[in-house]
Amino acid sequence: MEQLFKPGADAIFRLVLFIVIFSAAAALAVAAALSGSAFVTGTTIAARQPVPFSHKHHAGELGIDCRYCHTTVETEATAGLPPTYTCMTCHSQIWTGSPMLAPVRDSLARNQPLHWTRLNRLPDYVYFDHAIHIAKGIGCSSCHGQVQEMQLTYAVQSFTMGFCLDCHRAPQNNIRPQDEIFDMAWTPPADQAERGRALLAHYHIRPPAELTDCSICHR
Ligand code: HEC
Ligand code: HEC
Ligand code: HEC
Ligand code: HEC
Ligand code: HEC
Repeated sequence: MEQLFKPGADAIFRLVLFIVIFSAAAALAVAAALSGSAFVTGTTIAARQPVPFSHKHHAGELGIDCRYCHTTVETEATAGLPPTYTCMTCHSQIWTGSPMLAPVRDSLARNQPLHWTRLNRLPDYVYFDHAIHIAKGIGCSSCHGQVQEMQLTYAVQSFTMGFCLDCHRAPQNNIRPQDEIFDMAWTPPADQAERGRALLAHYHIRPPAELTDCSICHR
């Protein structure tokens, strides 16, 4: 009977099979690494915006208060994004001819809002409220990082359930006095353990069992 495969063909076949399986596994590993990385989750990557607005410039260097533009952060669930006229309070006077600001002038002239690309967005089935976090001693930087240093804004958290629960289980690690909420450089002081306990009592924070109850965030 004629030989179908030359001697040694079996070894070659196995080698080819090995390479195919190996490269498939390697491709999967790369895909898995990418999907968990900033590339796919959107963190650390600045979004395309109608105007290259800089927090570094406005909040960091000029020192404009966060609440000047995010007006409802202390009172409502959402922080709010500034309408065009907030920009124009300054930019109708300064940098009036800047080509970078043309979309802002256009927005005012045509009475059409600027469409900022949202960076942080929870799924609809998760309830979040800025006002209570601010009122109970949680500062912006605990969730948004060093915004005052961002030339173009990016998200530092992908806001997984684990991220929210880590703090709801032990808020004493990140809780601050009211006058430090907008201190973007805040880090827990050496005696945070002691201060944290006092602040839990001061703000009447509910115990972890209640704060990790599913119905707190899924209503
Ligand atoms: C002069 C106005 C202005 C000031 C002051 C300002 N912001 Fe903003 N902020 C904006 C604008 C405009 C956007 C939307 C464009 C962008 O993402 O850069 C934005 C976006 C953001 C976002 C991302 C929102 C999202 O999910 O899309 C965060 C977080 C934020 N600001 C936090 C802060 C913090 C914290 C401060 C104070 C340190 C601050 N901002 C001060 C105007 C301002
Ligand atoms: C309180 C005043 C103030 C407000 C409000 C303000 N800006 Fe500015 N902005 C400035 C100043 C001052 C500069 C220029 C500073 C410099 O370059 O030295 C500037 C610069 C800029 C530049 C860079 C312009 C260029 O050609 O280099 C952009 C873009 C810009 N602002 C966008 C915005 C947007 C968008 C808003 C509203 C969300 C806004 N600004 C609100 C004061 C303000
Ligand atoms: C406990 C975490 C947390 C803290 C503290 C926090 N944020 Fe946020 N922020 C979020 C989450 C989560 C979202 C996305 C909310 C959504 O999709 O409903 C968000 C969204 C935003 C947005 C997008 C626009 C909007 O209307 O919500 C801005 C602007 C913002 N935050 C600014 C701030 C500022 C300024 C502070 C401090 C005064 C602050 N945040 C404190 C978690 C936080
Ligand atoms: C760094 C700490 C911290 C992080 C991170 C955090 N929280 Fe909170 N959260 C708190 C504190 C403190 C309270 C106030 C608890 C109290 O009043 O007893 C609170 C309260 C809440 C409440 C209000 C509950 C009510 O009954 O009114 C909701 C809803 C909530 N958090 C959702 C979230 C979600 C969703 C996330 C993640 C996107 C998150 N939190 C991340 C500390 C945090
Ligand atoms: C402090 C807020 C918070 C609490 C408490 C909480 N969750 Fe979540 N949950 C979230 C957030 C935020 C997400 C969205 C995660 C994302 O988009 O990656 C989420 C997502 C989910 C999802 C979607 C699947 C997934 O894992 O992404 C399920 C299911 C879920 N939660 C169930 C629960 C159950 C059951 C409990 C109670 C044991 C609970 N959650 C308590 C914040 C919370």
